[in-house]
Amino acid sequence: MAFEELKQRQSTVWSSGAFEKVAASIGDVHQAVVDGLHPAPGDEWLDAACGTGELSFLAAAAGAHVTGMDFADTLVATARRQAAERGLHIHFDVGDVEAMPYGDDQFDIVSSTFGVMFAPNHAAAAGELARVVRPGGRLGLACWTPDGGAGQMFKVLVQFQPPPPEGAGNPVAWGNEAHVRELLGDAFELEVEEQTSTHREPSGEAYWDYMVSGFGPLKTLAESLDDSRRAELSQAWLDFAETMREGNEIVHRRQYLLILGTRR
Ligand SMILES: C[S@@+](CC[C@H](N)C(=O)[O-])C[C@H]1O[C@@H](n2cnc3c(N)ncnc32)[C@H](O)[C@@H]1O
Repeated sequence: MAFEELKQRQSTVWSSGAFEKVAASIGDVHQAVVDGLHPAPGDEWLDAACGTGELSFLAAAAGAHVTGMDFADTLVATARRQAAERGLHIHFDVGDVEAMPYGDDQFDIVSSTFGVMFAPNHAAAAGELARVVRPGGRLGLACWTPDGGAGQMFKVLVQFQPPPPEGAGNPVAWGNEAHVRELLGDAFELEVEEQTSTHREPSGEAYWDYMVSGFGPLKTLAESLDDSRRAELSQAWLDFAETMREGNEIVHRRQYLLILGTRR
């Protein structure tokens, strides 16, 4: 099933936030994926749905030849700028993970942290991950679990969003091991492990400000609502944040699946 109109809208949504701020809060996950893939110097590495490029920078610093790709053009522009500021030579493309602009078996390694999980056609995205990595090559993914802290956050937002088009996959299904094995188990030998990434904020208000400026889906959602509905959304966020209060801070423990694979 093709979701071209939906993906066009989603690329604008992701482009609307300064995602580099939010990416800083998942640096531990980027590092876990790079460590799990232990690249050799010169490995050809694709970082699919790379956002503002933070995992790509770690892979390049580890000696890989990195290509980053994402469909949000302003995020790709930020990734290019940040790579240049760091003196890293990384090639970035604008493209869709459901139809990647690369050849069969082109890469030794393919990664995607909280990226391919957002493509509406799960089977198409999984097929592309398998197609572009060579036999014996490696896969590294991180995907939020449905019932962990990030999954809970999405449940708050979904009450304010229009329903997704029929047939579009639920992103957090990628945080279910059985679903991942069904999508990728034929093409990859997989190891799947649950991990937690923790984010701390001084208050619910501070967390709202941080996310509403950096996380495109929340920014676009807030801007799409009228004043009273927007106030309800920010209140729902503050109530959610309070459920995570530990003393003087909000501690958001976000469970995810770390998925490592070897192409059969
Ligand atoms: C939560 S961000 C993660 C970015 C980056 N991987 C990281 O870990 O910092 C999700 C990213 O997936 C990208 N994305 C979502 N659907 C995509 C698609 N169909 N094709 C390419 N990129 C996509 C978004 O533009 C966004 O940059």
